[in-house]
Amino acid sequence: MPRGCSRGPAAGDGRLRLARLALVLLGWVSSSSPTSLASSSSSSSAPFLASAASAQPPLPDQCPALCECSEAARTVKCVNRNLTEVPTDLPPYVRNLFLTGNQLAVLPAGAFARRPPLAELAALNLSGSRLDEVRAGAFEHLPSLRQLDLSHNPLAYLSPFAFSGSNASISAPSPLVELILNHIVPPDDKRQNRSFEGMVAAALVAGRALQGLHRLELASNHFLYLPRDVLAQLPSLGHLDLSNNSLVSLTYVSFRNLTHLESLHLEDNALKVLHNGTLAELQGLPHVKVFLDNNPWVCDCHMADMVTWLKQTEVVQGKDRLTCAFPEKMRNRVLLELNSADLDCDPILPPSLQTSYVFLGIVLALIGAIFLLVLYLNRKGIKKWMHNIRDACRDHMEGYHYRYEINADPRLTNLSSNSDV
Ligand SMILES: *[C@@H]1O[C@H](CO)[C@@H](O)[C@H](O)[C@H]1NC(C)=O
Ligand SMILES: *[C@@H]1O[C@H](CO)[C@@H](O)[C@H](O)[C@H]1NC(C)=O
Ligand SMILES: *[C@@H]1O[C@H](CO)[C@@H](O)[C@H](O)[C@H]1NC(C)=O
Ligand SMILES: *[C@@H]1O[C@H](CO)[C@@H](O)[C@H](O)[C@H]1NC(C)=O
Ligand SMILES: *[C@@H]1O[C@H](CO)[C@@H](O)[C@H](O)[C@H]1NC(C)=O
Ligand SMILES: *[C@@H]1O[C@H](CO)[C@@H](O)[C@H](O)[C@H]1NC(C)=O
Ligand SMILES: *[C@@H]1O[C@H](CO)[C@@H](O)[C@H](O)[C@H]1NC(C)=O
Repeated sequence: MPRGCSRGPAAGDGRLRLARLALVLLGWVSSSSPTSLASSSSSSSAPFLASAASAQPPLPDQCPALCECSEAARTVKCVNRNLTEVPTDLPPYVRNLFLTGNQLAVLPAGAFARRPPLAELAALNLSGSRLDEVRAGAFEHLPSLRQLDLSHNPLAYLSPFAFSGSNASISAPSPLVELILNHIVPPDDKRQNRSFEGMVAAALVAGRALQGLHRLELASNHFLYLPRDVLAQLPSLGHLDLSNNSLVSLTYVSFRNLTHLESLHLEDNALKVLHNGTLAELQGLPHVKVFLDNNPWVCDCHMADMVTWLKQTEVVQGKDRLTCAFPEKMRNRVLLELNSADLDCDPILPPSLQTSYVFLGIVLALIGAIFLLVLYLNRKGIKKWMHNIRDACRDHMEGYHYRYEINADPRLTNLSSNSDV
């Protein structure tokens, strides 16, 4: 901020500062007058706003530098501008705010808190803005925020209170209806020690703030598992996108209470099979469509229940596209065309090879038995042979002892060397 830095002597500076203080106070009084309905609700946050809202209340026709504003469309776009912080002077009419393709790095508490608040802001797009840290209460004081897109930011740190207000125990429910968190996984070297899945889950469940959330997108995040309690805390979900992750199993996830669920995207994961419990839960949801393409289904005996279910259910979209990935002999077989006879549990050996191994075992056992019989019949000859060997050994050992003793006795050594003289 260039304020007053190039002005004259200190006395003039002081007077200027006084005048500015008076102006700020005036602005505060006028903005908290009862004509401004929305600001009265946020007056409890005055101390923390003082730092964020250093700017004057913006004029209605004002537009932040490097942004494009349309009052008619109630839209502000600050796109691909390399902004390093959220503009302070956003116009109060803004309903759709695009802050994509910037270099924001950190979203501090109250990053969008303004006086008066941005009461109209409903859709906020922060996609691809190099955010790596979203702090507690970053979206506080946005009473109408329905849609938030944080995709394509390497979020090494997402505060558990990012969506719930910095004090979850007293925060009101979040107004969010759509939360888009695709590809927010940071590169491996930037990851905290705790699991990324756990960090995201903590932010989704904190303070039960997201009870009204209808759409949640978590695609392309390398999720290895879905933390157990996440879905239980999001009862209004209608659309859940978990595609392009690394989910191996859904055994510990419960969909039972998601009665509003309409679409469940699980394409491009690492699912091997769905078990009875999961199948029953999905079948119990009244409106759901499930997408399961491009998973490495394992077609052994554990697949039998799922195949039976697939043949009957209408829940799975494009169920005729699902194919086996393992074992080798089943690769690319269509799940719907399998019978229980195709599904056996010998993942290592195909049945033909299995019988040949049994045959080999029998032959080896026979050879062993014949060998023992030959030994038994020749038992006398063998005994004699053993004796011979033992005798030979004994002779040899005695000779060795004798020589050793001779060499080891110093007197004998002396004797022999003296006798030479
Ligand atoms: C943003 O930064 C990139 C490289 O850091 C540069 O190529 C681009 O021109 C910058 N864009 C603007 C609008 O300054
Ligand atoms: C947010 O902006 C990105 C980049 O322009 C776009 O791809 C994405 O669809 C937008 N998100 C929403 C919810 O409109
Ligand atoms: C949250 O608010 C409650 C009640 O005002 C207070 O007791 C608690 O210490 C606060 N927690 C934090 C983390 O500020
Ligand atoms: C992660 O753990 C390693 C050792 O296991 C430690 O040196 C490092 O400081 C930890 N990093 C963080 C961010 O906690
Ligand atoms: C799937 O996720 C990976 C990494 O998360 C990403 O690089 C890739 O572009 C994603 N694919 C699609 C089709 O979104
Ligand atoms: C489902 O809801 C019922 C009643 O609301 C509750 O008792 C149960 O714990 C919930 N189950 C799960 C898995 O969230
Ligand atoms: C799964 O359910 C079917 C039908 O309800 C049943 O026949 C089958 O034995 C069950 N499978 C397991 C592994 O419990």
